[in-house]
Amino acid sequence: MLETDRLRLSQEIEDLAAKHDFQREGLLPILQAIKNKHNHISDFAMQEVARLLAIHPVEVYGVVSFYSFLSTKQQGHFVIRLCRTISCDLLDKEAVACQLENELGIKFGETTKDGRFSLFWANCLGMCDQGPAMLINDYVFTQVTAEKVFDILECCRKSFGTYAFEGKDNISCFTPVKSNIQSDKSTGVLLELEPDKALKKALEYGPEKIVETIKISGLKGRGGAGFPTHIKWELAAKVKSNKKYVVCNADEGEPGTFKDRVLLSDYSHVMLEGMTIAGLVIGAKKGIIYLRGEYSYLLKNLKKAIDTRHSNNLLGNNILGDKDFSFDIDIRLGSGAYICGEETALIESLEGQRGEPRNRPPFPVDTGYNDHPTIVNNVETFAMVAHIIAKGPSWLKRAGTEKSSGTKLFSVSGNCKRPGIYEMPYGITINELLILVGGEEAKAVQVGGASGRCVPRSEFDHLIAYEDIPTGGSIIVFNNNTDMLGVAENFLQFFNEESCGQCTPCRIGNTKLLESVKMLKKGQCSIRYLRELQSLGETMQLSSKCGLGQSAPNAFLSITKHFTDEILGRNKQILEVQ
Ligand code: FES
Repeated sequence: MLETDRLRLSQEIEDLAAKHDFQREGLLPILQAIKNKHNHISDFAMQEVARLLAIHPVEVYGVVSFYSFLSTKQQGHFVIRLCRTISCDLLDKEAVACQLENELGIKFGETTKDGRFSLFWANCLGMCDQGPAMLINDYVFTQVTAEKVFDILECCRKSFGTYAFEGKDNISCFTPVKSNIQSDKSTGVLLELEPDKALKKALEYGPEKIVETIKISGLKGRGGAGFPTHIKWELAAKVKSNKKYVVCNADEGEPGTFKDRVLLSDYSHVMLEGMTIAGLVIGAKKGIIYLRGEYSYLLKNLKKAIDTRHSNNLLGNNILGDKDFSFDIDIRLGSGAYICGEETALIESLEGQRGEPRNRPPFPVDTGYNDHPTIVNNVETFAMVAHIIAKGPSWLKRAGTEKSSGTKLFSVSGNCKRPGIYEMPYGITINELLILVGGEEAKAVQVGGASGRCVPRSEFDHLIAYEDIPTGGSIIVFNNNTDMLGVAENFLQFFNEESCGQCTPCRIGNTKLLESVKMLKKGQCSIRYLRELQSLGETMQLSSKCGLGQSAPNAFLSITKHFTDEILGRNKQILEVQ
């Protein structure tokens, strides 16, 4: 590198660091900006960042190497990431992959000699209802076919030298992301809501009555874990601290989940209102949306929504004329790490660290972002709170079951006629849902994404609810032609890539299970070995440090339990040892 280039890069990094007050929490945005501009993060850049943030270069390297969207190696001007997760796999992503390799003359993981294109696999991009999906830099391409590949690459070649695709909306190969709401919008969180209705009522109520209203409503977190929302908020409200934070987890990365994408694009003001109410309850002045890097195309609209709320005095100082209430919201981008959907990993990421889950206790309500009390809730949960406050505590209870109040957004993909977003009451059976989505022929349904469980046809009368089969919203339908071992392999591949590697059961267990599925696919397995693998999966569930490792074997265990005949029947030479 020439001395003049070094000086220029050094100044650029100093400007970036200054924008973040030379604080460690600015590390990820700084690295993202360097990567976006220079297509990699060089050793010199990492050393400069380390010097300016007063941290060791090894720590910077540790962060760069953790996130799949960052790289120390020079990448192409256009970075193509094709989704290989199960819903896109069912939609023949292989044909697209083959065409990309042929057209570019490179394999996945490589960069063209002219430095224009790099080609990578990606995990679920949140476009499972309109796959195969791929990202090129920040742009999302949906319903990609092998025929479209040439046009897409031509479009890139023509816009080489610019970061963006100029006039992309007029490009025939560009299919805009659809909201794809298939059910009636007038049921729950998809109802229209005036931008200030809930907030005005919240200011009348005050923190205690808001918490009481949420408690009576029975709202549980919509991200999947189902923790009662009012308890989390009440705990954070009680902690004495001069700084508190409200964090919106907009990092939905569970394969087959895309419902937050629609809330973030079409209902963002409802979510922002819910976050503001949370600020009022716990006494926070700051909210942060952690938006997954794959959804960076939503950034512009979200910023606009925040600006509009500022103009209408719904954010900022003295909200709606209340001199004691000020609250603002920032957006931070993730960088391609599924584990950051776990709340403590997300907080680590916000602090500029590797997204590795923390030991608990202490819990974020006590010791969260920068050690301050923090609540982390899902996009749908915040939106639900706004509706509950606007409509009263009994509004949610008018639908659902005793233990699962209200409606739930489902992201439906896979082998069905009408994939998309469905809002349905908790307590709907899998059978009923399948009829709605045109998936009556299904032989199995994966409820809850890769970390959920695979439900066979014989159990389709089960309810989707916390008391029966819970889900964060992902529903993937498999028809009779689906190779269920292929499904298990796809999910295990996903967990192998996304495990943070901190704990042995998850790091080694996922690798062992993936190897074993590959053996099972070749018919090289005995029943005894299959049982040992199931025992390994159960050990992982019990001994992994965080939810990722604890739930990673779920799909494997349910598939090997319910489809034993299909697995063993693929090769008649399998030995019956017992
Ligand atoms: Fe490909 Fe979700 S976008 S599986």
